[in-house]
Amino acid sequence: MTQVPNITLANGVSMPAIGLGVYRSSADETVHAVSAALDAGYRLFDTAAAYGNEAQVGEALGRKHIAAADVFVTTKLWISDYGFDSALHGFERSMRKLKLETLDLYLLHQPMPNEWERTIASWKALARLTAEGRVRAIGVSNFSTVLLQRLIDQTGVVPHVNQVELHPFFAQAELRATHARLGIATQAWSPIGGVTRYWGDKPDPSRNPLTHETVTALATKYGKSPAQILLRWHMEHGICAIPKSVTPSRIAENIDVFDFSLEAGEIAAIDALDSGVRSGPDPETFDTTTIKRTIED
Ligand SMILES: NC(=O)c1ccc[n+]([C@@H]2O[C@H](COP(=O)([O-])OP(=O)(O)OC[C@H]3O[C@@H](n4cnc5c(N)ncnc54)[C@H](OP(=O)(O)O)[C@@H]3O)[C@@H](O)[C@H]2O)c1
Repeated sequence: MTQVPNITLANGVSMPAIGLGVYRSSADETVHAVSAALDAGYRLFDTAAAYGNEAQVGEALGRKHIAAADVFVTTKLWISDYGFDSALHGFERSMRKLKLETLDLYLLHQPMPNEWERTIASWKALARLTAEGRVRAIGVSNFSTVLLQRLIDQTGVVPHVNQVELHPFFAQAELRATHARLGIATQAWSPIGGVTRYWGDKPDPSRNPLTHETVTALATKYGKSPAQILLRWHMEHGICAIPKSVTPSRIAENIDVFDFSLEAGEIAAIDALDSGVRSGPDPETFDTTTIKRTIED
């Protein structure tokens, strides 16, 4: 079973450097994927209230009799629950579904620039949850440098983590420099470029990092898969990656990246693929007037 190294957050909490994401995993798939991931050595699981599968993450952990202290569970507050009291309510609902008493990492799923005071109120609720010991670390997702700074200036609370779209075609070098300056850990969603394949009406195959010749040539050189080369690139940069898969062989493959390393020139060659253009939605367009989704109790 693979042993995954940890990344130490600013408050001393250890977070595994690779975890399993479950966005777009159906209820049934989630139970099986989490179970296969536990067998392969994963200890970090990334879900969200908006994914509709927190209960299945909790169910899979329970079936394997895994103690909460032996795993690192992340979930996210959805925008319809933003506000101080509603955030606390959303948290309790997630904990009920996950069947957990304490959460390892709680994230604001999106910034809402148009409903900023609700974003700030939610962030204060997350800070309260850490002070009360219900959550070990708190963070945000999809925040830019400007919004991170606004959040910190208004609350004095620095996120431990910012989870953002990050893969070789959208490598977020400037945002990573901001994180380094502020002591925020970078967590990559779509680390193997999933969003380049599933988002939008006509995904552009030339933006799929799994098939780019720079990546496939390194896969051949090291006897690894393209996904493993991409995940190793995240590891070389100290980025936490949360690849999603519901396929047991890929789940095992994606964590098996600690027996080789990339040379400096190879890392630079992958860095050079950055287009500066995201493949997913612009995070700053999210608000409750355009996205009506709410979370069931
Ligand atoms: N905070 C946010 O706003 C946000 C947004 C998006 C995602 N996320 C998180 O990030 C996680 C990962 O992101 P993602 O799902 O967008 O993209 P991803 O992990 O980069 O890619 C997942 C896709 O790649 C396939 N895949 C997995 N392993 C593979 C391998 N070894 N070889 C070839 N294909 C492979 C999966 O297929 P199969 O499942 O069929 O194997 C799936 O279609 C999500 O599950 C979620 O937890 C967060």
